[in-house]
Amino acid sequence: PAPGWSIDADVVVVGSGVAGLTAALRCASAGLSTVVVTKARLDDGSTRWAQGGIAAALGEGDTPEQHLDDTLVAGAGLCDEDAVRLMVTEGPGAVRRLIDSGANFDKDALGVIELTREGGHHRRRIAHAGGDATGAEISRALVEAAKYASDAPDPAGRIRTIENALVLDLLTDAEGRAAGVSLHVMGEGQHDGVGAVHARAVVLATGGMGQVFSATTNPSVSTGDGVALALRAGAEISDIEFVQFHPTVLFLGPDAEGQQPLVSEAVRGEGAHLVDADGVRFMVGQHELAELAPRDIVAKGIMRRMQEQGAAHMYLDARHFGAEMWEQRFPTILAACRAHGIDPVTEPIPVAPAAHYASGGVRTDLHGRTTVPGLYACGEVACTGVHGANRLASNSLLEGLVYAERIAADIASGLPATGAPVPVPHPDVPKYPLLPAEARLAIQRIMTEGAGVLRSAASLAKAAEEIEAIHAAARGALAEHGKTAEPGTDTWEATNLLCVARVLVTAALRREETRGCHWREDHAERDDASWRRHIVVTLNPDRT
Ligand code: SIN
Repeated sequence: PAPGWSIDADVVVVGSGVAGLTAALRCASAGLSTVVVTKARLDDGSTRWAQGGIAAALGEGDTPEQHLDDTLVAGAGLCDEDAVRLMVTEGPGAVRRLIDSGANFDKDALGVIELTREGGHHRRRIAHAGGDATGAEISRALVEAAKYASDAPDPAGRIRTIENALVLDLLTDAEGRAAGVSLHVMGEGQHDGVGAVHARAVVLATGGMGQVFSATTNPSVSTGDGVALALRAGAEISDIEFVQFHPTVLFLGPDAEGQQPLVSEAVRGEGAHLVDADGVRFMVGQHELAELAPRDIVAKGIMRRMQEQGAAHMYLDARHFGAEMWEQRFPTILAACRAHGIDPVTEPIPVAPAAHYASGGVRTDLHGRTTVPGLYACGEVACTGVHGANRLASNSLLEGLVYAERIAADIASGLPATGAPVPVPHPDVPKYPLLPAEARLAIQRIMTEGAGVLRSAASLAKAAEEIEAIHAAARGALAEHGKTAEPGTDTWEATNLLCVARVLVTAALRREETRGCHWREDHAERDDASWRRHIVVTLNPDRT
């Protein structure tokens, strides 16, 4: 390609997990030419790593209303009830359409979908695939469907995919409406690789930001790119302080960094016990659901016990499953544990909480529209209001599916006429400083220490100061030399991580209470009188 190249489409979808590919497939079936841009390969995002499954009221005796109740309880007073209601009522149909797209879920001998339990669910309502490889199966099916749609004879209805392409910024027309994205296709050079997709609607489905912390279940690509892009484009971000820490992540040592192996809630759903080094089931008596309490309560229970005992981790004991059940029901987890020298068939698994899911993100309405016209968001990058202060287990794949379908329906119901062409930014003119790649590690350590599972005004203020120092140094370098780090995936990712770290710390400092997965040691109680509300952030000025 030549510098400044561009391609045209009706819709550009950024990201290729369950939300992105579902949105793309539904847009294409509505006869819209669709481009999917993804940072690595089509299946490299978080979806592939989802283990436990997808929650939906599919079982006998279960109803969307019961699913709604469990979701609202987990969300600790901050869910948008209308958004939840849409998800739980449209969810079963969306799962059936996913099955029609080719995803194979585990079934019993009679061909009925098997359902398991996870934390916060009062019923068995989690459908799974390959035992504990649900996300991998969903990703396989959707990637295959997207590849099939790339051969569609009619360009309207065709999906084009651009892999290894880092989306830089939103392009807007003279009226401020989203008109496409600028992007850098890696391996094509800084000049030739920078171009644009011009489109009449832009769907952000870039996933999460777990990499803002040192230890996370998220893959290395989860660097908050969508939230950062949306912030730079002037969109509102909501609930960003609510970062969910998964209670049971395989403990690989106190200094473990990067993506860590998950031990699914479904293991507890099938009867595993959380115990301390003395074998005591410490969650019993803390909550009526004990090990299956909502995720924030279990994570806090583990952290408390670790503090009381000066321990670096707790244990998950599922030896009573026996070898056959482990092999059939949880093959992925069994293999991951064994790869690290732990055999869950004969010994308890060392576990500790690690960053897992961003409950907040780019604020949307019930059609997935953000506050920037023409810009939509779905999946983990979005804040539809479904998760409130703490996401209920296995609601994320469901939310991605349902809201991706809603977005596609909204786009298909009326796109504006093609606007005037929008110029592609010149690659040599930096609008803001790019951080050196090494900044990533520094940001992760600062955030883990100051804004992790346990927070206080002092820890957050220290984190804010250190994060601002990194920001100021980068701005200073830009002002002095007119140029900063070389553009590339690692420098863009570090820059995006800094952008989300800044707003996360700001919101976490402001929320002076403990609610859901936001745990303030200096404000240990939930304070409904002052804080049953959302913190909404824009780049500048901030407002609540
Ligand atoms: C898990 O399998 O425990 C993860 C499920 C989720 O994050 O919803």
